[in-house]
Amino acid sequence: MAENKAKTKVCSWNEWDPLKHVIVGRADGTQVQAPEPAVERDWPEYGFPLGTYGRLPKEMEDKANEQLDNFAHILEQRGIRVDRPTPLDFSQAVQTPDWQQASMFGCMPPRDVLLTVGNEILEATMSCRSRWFEYIVYRPLLERYFQEDPDFRWEAAPKPRLTERTYKKDYWKTFNALSEAEKLARTKARDWVLTEAEPCFDAADVARCGRDLIVQQSTVTNAAGISWLKRHFRNHRVHSVIFKEDAPMHIDATFVPLRPGLALSNRQRKPLTPEMVELFRKNDWQIVECAKPAHDKKAKLSFCSVWLSMNILILDPKTVCVEASEKEQMEQFDKLGFEVVPVPLWDVAAFGGGLHCATADVYREGTLEDYFPHQIPGF
Ligand code: NVA
Repeated sequence: MAENKAKTKVCSWNEWDPLKHVIVGRADGTQVQAPEPAVERDWPEYGFPLGTYGRLPKEMEDKANEQLDNFAHILEQRGIRVDRPTPLDFSQAVQTPDWQQASMFGCMPPRDVLLTVGNEILEATMSCRSRWFEYIVYRPLLERYFQEDPDFRWEAAPKPRLTERTYKKDYWKTFNALSEAEKLARTKARDWVLTEAEPCFDAADVARCGRDLIVQQSTVTNAAGISWLKRHFRNHRVHSVIFKEDAPMHIDATFVPLRPGLALSNRQRKPLTPEMVELFRKNDWQIVECAKPAHDKKAKLSFCSVWLSMNILILDPKTVCVEASEKEQMEQFDKLGFEVVPVPLWDVAAFGGGLHCATADVYREGTLEDYFPHQIPGF
């Protein structure tokens, strides 16, 4: 605990500079969210048919917390300072003047809420009513960073109203009946549940590469949200991308920059869009396809796919944490010249993701660099 008293410095420009300080989430009290326009859970096989909601089973929560605590310990053993959020009672109903929502979600994935760009941490808008108040779990930490680091820029994107104007009516009801080809056609048309009435984005749709921010438009990030990010990060180049995935949510199991000149791409969610390929090619980046995942189906009660195999945490340009069951992914990293740190985390999947999801950067030692001096007009 002694190192937690250290003075804070907030700064992180990319996904690979040497990590010195990070937030690791907690599983405490995580809920299968009550239905809302943005989310409908339907897991009859696990006791949560459509319309039902509630706390994830206690034994699952205990296992997930054990793995998260162990992950935090592994990082601390490597000299990385680890902070943790302060959970709320996520079973409580919440409301704004515009709506009421019967439950919140949890605080496992800080990556979804907090976007660190340089000495700024930006609280994302979020686009689910159940996650609207999630920033509160990080406030004790952010208040402290604000007191301890005079250069820390604490920002929050405008909270969306999330009224009926924000969502396409009954989107999921019709979506679930579509064929795979029809669902992919929706992706191509960038036609998901969010309207463009107001900016919405999750921080986990952003991959940071110095001056370039690659932002996935998705079921939780709309074009207005990306436009807001463009106007906010004026010294950056914000690239709006999509991949071949139905109902995408968060970029970090699809496209992951690994170190200058090298990125990892999902072997199923391809091809990449031509502009993206061209940007990386023109700047001498190599894009490699990820290895085969260890699991052939989603974890119980998880909304995340088996591609959590590529949801990794990079400790520095030569060291990467990979989920411990992902043998082939670990072998691939080994061949790419990384030291691999295996971290068991599969039991955390139902609580909101993998190693990258479970963390948010506070400090990586490095400077703002331009890794893409050759740009593609209009992209
Ligand atoms: N929604 C994506 C990303 C999860 C981190 C997936 O399930 O693959």
